[in-house]
Amino acid sequence: MKRKLSPSILSADFARLSEEVAKLEPLGIDEIHIDVMDGHFVPNITIGPPVIASLRKETDMFFDTHLMIAHPARYFDAFIEAGADGITCHAEVMEAMECVKMAKRDGIRAGISINPETEFEVLMPYLDVVDMVLLMTVHPGFGGQKFIMDVVPKIERLREWIDREGREIIVQVDGGINVDTVKIALDAGAEILVAGSAVFGGNVVENTEKLLAIIEKHEGKG
Ligand code: DX5
Ligand code: ZN
Repeated sequence: MKRKLSPSILSADFARLSEEVAKLEPLGIDEIHIDVMDGHFVPNITIGPPVIASLRKETDMFFDTHLMIAHPARYFDAFIEAGADGITCHAEVMEAMECVKMAKRDGIRAGISINPETEFEVLMPYLDVVDMVLLMTVHPGFGGQKFIMDVVPKIERLREWIDREGREIIVQVDGGINVDTVKIALDAGAEILVAGSAVFGGNVVENTEKLLAIIEKHEGKG
């Protein structure tokens, strides 16, 4: 697939969400990353279905919904009704496989995510089912953290596995992506690069253009 940037609205101004997202559309961004946190799976609380439903009325962008919550299956339908286009849950929670199956049932993009310290092998039961794997390159919970280099071999291993098996699974990377680390993630085989603070910290348009230029240059390399 064509590599792309998925800006995480976690670092956007929540009072001006639609304006922030509107700045991205003319730059060719067609997907945004929405971080949902419940104060249980991660030590932070962010947004839920009502905010997603409000934003849904403002944009046609693909809503890449990252559920960092303990009960993703319990709340799955609420996120679909709110307008999620893709749902990613965490393999570390009990309801992960149930959530993935619900996403497949509904014909949306089904994603599975693992934390930096979670072993690659944990992904195996999901690789026959999912459309996307999200490898966390920070400990989930907060924007603005440092990219964890130790995850790079896991990105490479996933890329190799997908290529060897001839699968169509998308590799997404999330956490600490900026103008420096984006190259590392791309070289390791990531296709969707999630970036929050590197997009929304400061001038959104300039930040996005810089990241897009690096991604496009990498595409050119083939
Ligand atoms: C962290 C979230 C990320 C976060 C990334 O738990 O899943 O999507 O927004 O933020 P940055 O890009 O600032 O590391
Ligand atoms: Zn995320």
